Amino acid sequence: MPSERAIKAARQHAETSRLLGVDFLPRSTRAVSVLPRKTEAVAEATVPSSDKAGALSALRARYEQQSEVAKSMPGWTNIVFGDGSPDARLMFVGEAPGADEDEQGIPFVGRAGKKLNEMIAAMGLTRPEVYIANVLKVRPPNNRTPTPEEAALDGPFLAEQIEIIQPEVLCTLGRPAANFLLDNREAMGSLRGRWFEYRGIPLMPTFHPAYLLRSYTPEVRGKVWSDLQKIMERLGLSPS
Ligand code: URA
Repeated sequence: MPSERAIKAARQHAETSRLLGVDFLPRSTRAVSVLPRKTEAVAEATVPSSDKAGALSALRARYEQQSEVAKSMPGWTNIVFGDGSPDARLMFVGEAPGADEDEQGIPFVGRAGKKLNEMIAAMGLTRPEVYIANVLKVRPPNNRTPTPEEAALDGPFLAEQIEIIQPEVLCTLGRPAANFLLDNREAMGSLRGRWFEYRGIPLMPTFHPAYLLRSYTPEVRGKVWSDLQKIMERLGLSPS
């Protein structure tokens, strides 16, 4: 009977191949040689720290009371604060909720969210193990890009989320999140694939999954996978 490790390696291989349409994962057991570390991380992540969970709840309550963006933005239904483990080693940061997220109050649950789930699975992680948040916590009308002013107003809540979670790695999805956290205006083409730091936390910008869906070419898929692999290496999720 195949071992649990072999089954997980095979599943990961199938998921990453499906995601990116390329055969890139090493087939040898080297690919899963770091799983024991990962297993420890999973065990930690499944026991949420009550302090962090409490701090996140308090922050959410403050957001509901104080966010100038939520007060002034027309037409949103639910605040989309964040989702995942307060003890996450990896935190993804997107731009702003879309229609599905606004309806459910959970980030990345629409088409782009499904692609993000595949990306997370391809890394050998599960969605409940990571934490996902956006720069803006309410949906801008017609899914327009947040203005820099809106990002500056809601951004401090994101900064506090990061401060509470203290992930080992941040991964920004798309340009607005990268530009906000890195405080620059650089284009994705020059940002993605490079390591940056946000308040001492390594940060890897990659393309937004919605862009990946729109430009589903081997080139873009390969770039995203290369960015994710860098994160996996950093977290000890793949062989170097
Ligand atoms: N796009 C984002 O940037 N965030 C979401 O939560 C959904 C789509």
